[in-house]
Amino acid sequence: MAQNGQVFRLDGGDCTYAFGVNEHGELQPLYWGGRIGTRDAIPAANSNPEMASFDSPYTTTPQEYAGWGAGLFTEPALKITFADGNRDLVLHFVRATQNGPQALEILLKDISREVYVTLRYSIDPESGILARSANIENKDKQSLVIEQAAAAQWTLPAARYILSYLTGRWAGEWTLNQEPIQGGERVIESRRGTTGHQANPWFAISLDDSQKTTGTIAAGEEHGEVWFGALAWSGSWRFTIEHTQLDAVRVTGGFNPFDFGYKLNPGEHLETPVFYGGYSDHGLGGASRLLHRYELAHILPRAPNPKLRPVIYNSWEATEFKVDEPGQVALAEKAASIGVDRVVMDDGWFGQRKNDHAGLGDWYVNPQKFPNGLKPLIDRVHALHMDFGLWVEPEMINPDSDLYRKHPDWVLNFPGRPRSESRNQLVLNLARPDVRDYVEGFLDKLLTENDIAFLKWDYNRNWSEPGWDQVPIDEQKRVYVEFIRNLYSILADLRKKHPNVEIESCSGGGGRVDLGILRYADEVWPSDNTDPFDRLSMQDGFSYAYPPQVMMAWVTDSPHWLNGRATTLTYRMLSSMQGSLGIGANLNHWTTEDFATAKRLIAAYHSVQPTIVGGDLYRLISPRDTSEQSATETVSRDKHQAVVFAFSHSTQEGRGFPLLELQGLDPEAQYALTFIEGKARAGTPTTASGAWWMNHGLQLDLRGDFQATALHLDRQP
Ligand code: GLA
Repeated sequence: MAQNGQVFRLDGGDCTYAFGVNEHGELQPLYWGGRIGTRDAIPAANSNPEMASFDSPYTTTPQEYAGWGAGLFTEPALKITFADGNRDLVLHFVRATQNGPQALEILLKDISREVYVTLRYSIDPESGILARSANIENKDKQSLVIEQAAAAQWTLPAARYILSYLTGRWAGEWTLNQEPIQGGERVIESRRGTTGHQANPWFAISLDDSQKTTGTIAAGEEHGEVWFGALAWSGSWRFTIEHTQLDAVRVTGGFNPFDFGYKLNPGEHLETPVFYGGYSDHGLGGASRLLHRYELAHILPRAPNPKLRPVIYNSWEATEFKVDEPGQVALAEKAASIGVDRVVMDDGWFGQRKNDHAGLGDWYVNPQKFPNGLKPLIDRVHALHMDFGLWVEPEMINPDSDLYRKHPDWVLNFPGRPRSESRNQLVLNLARPDVRDYVEGFLDKLLTENDIAFLKWDYNRNWSEPGWDQVPIDEQKRVYVEFIRNLYSILADLRKKHPNVEIESCSGGGGRVDLGILRYADEVWPSDNTDPFDRLSMQDGFSYAYPPQVMMAWVTDSPHWLNGRATTLTYRMLSSMQGSLGIGANLNHWTTEDFATAKRLIAAYHSVQPTIVGGDLYRLISPRDTSEQSATETVSRDKHQAVVFAFSHSTQEGRGFPLLELQGLDPEAQYALTFIEGKARAGTPTTASGAWWMNHGLQLDLRGDFQATALHLDRQP
């Protein structure tokens, strides 16, 4: 049984993580930070003494996975109500199972009840990123209800920290917020049944430099220690960032306990999502580079070799619901002429879908718009040497649909209560096995009968009235878990049955972007806001958590529908080329010159795409906080190439563009400079050493309003 004093340790990349069993048999975090020597001993766990009668050691001693009981006042990982009314849960160490040098399972058990928790740990040897999750098992003879279950708790030692996190709204996702962590709790969450636009399940905590320097907070971009994490879950989630009374910081994250209540019958178990966590001592830039590498190598469906995203054409902003065969063919022909790889038909092709009032749920091809089905269009797209993708919104239903008329009980609802509509639609209850099978069935049929390479999988509202009255009352709240599990299982089945089909996760833009969906989705749609200037800050925010590979970015029309801002096609192209490029403009309105510009830039993009989406990203100048400029640099892993994008938002008082001191190059190697667009100040060498570009720096000749430059540096043999 319990071996008090035992220490467990995981080493990977530049990181060491350690915890141990304290004298009470509780599991206590010991260390998370820079890698320490293999032979260095980590002192055994010892609980904190009682400071005052108000705070027992149970609450002042950090725990790896704290049960709510015995006077715990900090955020619990697990809170349970037992059938007899007992709500006290105290978890003690039982045993550890080492699964190779990089993985560990720890079994905990309540001090008297037959409740077991298995904590799973693994560390990636390359990045040092940890994957943590918990499995909660009821081996008792009676059922119990889990009211709160975290995937993991992370503990940082007492210091002053800055929290970074991402918030937003529809058409305004990916705002990076930074604030000092002060007394009390900061909650970041979604109660929406889905990931949400309003906050994203990612955090970073930087050591606050201002304790050494000035009073302003300073989270280092390229220096300083950073701890970060991301939760792999596409349902309601919550992070609680706690500044404890002993000045330590704890992050608890997992299922959102709001309206949660997962009944576990005897013999049943609940597996939490995975909470990934990592450490870098190269600032937020180092943290996101580690995370990007990890996501490309371990999360994405085709990891470790995700395919380069084809350059797509999508007519949504140009035609909205007015799709038909001749219109799509005409646009596809124009798209082919500029080097597009894939044509995606968006909303409007199915059922009686003339606008957003009808049709969701009826997934037959609209016979008026496509009298001969999709085949003639798909064949034409193939003949133009592109592949074909299709928009679907499988989890949704319009009350004005044949499906709803037949199955009004299939939606999330509380009987006898109003069913709140958003965009005239309701949410199908995917937790129901019959609904789940219907959704998988129609998608499977669609993919079997048509040569479809890609699905843009949309999800255009959040939950309301989340009732599920087909199951016993005390099991209805399981909907928060079963819905998402069924979503994942449909995606997994479809990928297995149709291994060549690729999928985009879209939710009215970036409402469903997380490491859970990214196991099944090759790419995501970050925002319905395609304004190229707004996108610069969104793409910047996005890049803290997710890699450019998955970040779809369309070039659309000017002036932009949202902000009325007019920009040149070149500016729009360069803004989108920072991620995975797409064209979403109305090609019927383009001039010959527009076609020539796009063709040239798509060809240039193709030639440097592997570096942009697979390299190491350095955010050289931030577009945030009304910055007048921004710039990014991506360096290929082998350091053979670097691609730089720079943007001038509005030059004032004739000031020049800031000097760009490049990063990540091989200082000894020679690199030749090639401009895709724009130019350098006179006198800039065309070839110089990595040391020159990094130390002397590059002076661009870039000024004006909404102007952009793109260039690459290539290592010389
Ligand atoms: C959502 C998506 C858009 C488009 C529309 C179609 O808003 O984010 O890109 O597909 O739905 O209705």
